[in-house]
Parts: sequence; C-alpha cells; structure tokens
Amino acid sequence: MLEKDIQEILFTEEQLKKRVEEIARQIEADYAGREIMFIGILRGSFVFMADLCRAVDLPCTLDFMSVSSYGTGTTSSGQVQITKDLSEDITGRHVIVVEDILDSGNTLSYLLNILEHRHPASVRLCALLDKPDRRVKPVKLHYSGFSIPDAFVVGYGLDYAEKYRSLPYIGILKPEVYGG
Ligand code: IMP
Ligand code: MG
Repeated sequence: MLEKDIQEILFTEEQLKKRVEEIARQIEADYAGREIMFIGILRGSFVFMADLCRAVDLPCTLDFMSVSSYGTGTTSSGQVQITKDLSEDITGRHVIVVEDILDSGNTLSYLLNILEHRHPASVRLCALLDKPDRRVKPVKLHYSGFSIPDAFVVGYGLDYAEKYRSLPYIGILKPEVYGG
C-alpha cells in the first residue's frame, strides 16, 4: 500500500541487517571493556537504534533526544531546536549518538556541540545514511552505514511528513509525492 509511492528500493531488509551487524562489530572492537550510552535522535533513528543496540554485545544504556529542523518539507531550515532533552546525565559517559541520516549537517553540528559541553568522556556519531553532497556544516562521522546520492529517502524509521517510517526497507520517494 505504501509501496506505490516508492520509486526505487535502495536497501533491502537483508542489506540493512547485514550492515547493522558490520557496524556493531566495529563498535564492539572500539568500545571493548567500556559501557556505551547510545543517544537516539528521535524520531528517525528509532528503528536503526533498536536494531543496532541489540546487535552490539557490550553493556549499554539508552537515552533519546528530539530536535526539530525539518517541519514537513524535504530541506533543512538550518534552525535547530531541542524539543525533548535527555533524561540522563552524560558526564563521564561514552556516548554514541545514533542518527538516521546525515544531510546538511545542521542538526548534528548543533547537537554535538551541545553534548560536548556536558563533559562526556567521549562522543562519537553513528548515522545509518550519509548524503555527503549535501553537507553545509562539517561533521565528523565515525560510523556510517551507507553513502547515498542526493535523493529523498524514506523507510526504516525515515519519514516524509511523518509517514513511511514503518517500511522495513529504505527507498527513494517518488518526487511527485512531495511535489518535487
Ligand atoms: P540535516 O540537519 O540537514 O543534516 O538534517 C538531518 C535530518 O533531516 C535527519 O535527521 C532527517 O530527519 C532529515 N532528513 C534528511 N534527509 C532526509 C531524507 O532523505 N529522508 C528523510 N529524512 C531526511
Ligand atoms: Mg532525524
């Protein structure tokens, strides 16, 4: 039913699962002997976060933050606002920020800056998708799932106007859906 709005499937469920496992092995190697605090950026990261934290065989805690930068359009406004802050203190913690997609970098450069000021032991960024061609602000990405071209994608947590998050795969949305 949602499928009719998808132009092309970029990553199938199987491909996503395999890549999540690979990232988990990298994280396990890098964080051996330490406890991780995963911070998921709502809402787009919720599916990736759920799969990633279950794939990583290390002690961890989870927290979530919500920021607004997009509204219902397909381009970032550059203005970022925290709409839900963390519940936990991150002082002295090894934080991995989990994001669905790194696009202009506006959201994450703002957010990472805020988190750094709270004195965590370390902060790294893990994004499932990366659109390097769209970058406006430089952001260091430690764990990247896939680099993708400049197209608007949905599924596996990613939305357009809050829809399509429940698709088990990632696909390019037909431009006519958002009037592109
Ligand atoms: P940035 O501030 O431009 O890097 O925007 C990052 C946020 O924009 C992501 O967390 C997503 O919520 C949203 N976003 C960027 N590109 C896409 C896309 O292709 N599909 C769905 N959401 C996107
Ligand atoms: Mg997001």
